[in-house]
Amino acid sequence: MADANATSRPDGWEGPAIGRVIVDEETLQARVRELGARITDDYAGRAPLLVGVLKGACLFLSDLARAISLPVELDFMAVSSYGSATRTSGVVRIVKDLDLDLTGRHVIIVEDIVDSGLTLAYLRRNLAARHPASLAVCALLIKEGLQTVEQDLAYEGFRIPPEFVVGYGLDVAERYRNLPYIAAYLEGAAGA
Ligand code: IMP
Ligand code: MG
Repeated sequence: MADANATSRPDGWEGPAIGRVIVDEETLQARVRELGARITDDYAGRAPLLVGVLKGACLFLSDLARAISLPVELDFMAVSSYGSATRTSGVVRIVKDLDLDLTGRHVIIVEDIVDSGLTLAYLRRNLAARHPASLAVCALLIKEGLQTVEQDLAYEGFRIPPEFVVGYGLDVAERYRNLPYIAAYLEGAAGA
């Protein structure tokens, strides 16, 4: 079997806008496995439907699904929130809706990051109205102290400081989603 550590990446390809590492790859992967194990226990005997919020949650969702030892199904939704690149306005538009009917399903919304919580609050209301048997949220990152909307998060990855981060699905203008860790984004750094 190939050694995963044999993959060498040239240092510095990320560029100068990538600041300190907030959650390293090993810690991230260990937590995703833990969340998967908890979901496996909690949903024993059922086939949960994981709803990934595109595009940010796609890397998290693909690792999480593989950490769940149950017959899961996947579906995706794409939303866009009006506002500037690094701030959400809370007004959410569905760009791509789900393919599947949620009636009677055990649905888990898989989100990359909860900042103000407005996007998640909107999604929760929207999906709850489709008569799922149950609805839970699994969010990888929660920004400390910033939620304007109270959230009931069944599964949480990490609480992080309230700064802009990239990597593991999270982007700035579509870049940095493929970083295997979460890092601070240095606004205004050369080349950003
Ligand atoms: P909220 O509605 O303020 O909770 O914002 C949630 C959405 O904003 C997330 O799903 C992300 O797409 C985006 N977002 C919020 N904070 C960050 C960040 O630090 N990096 C990248 N995207 C973010
Ligand atoms: Mg985004």
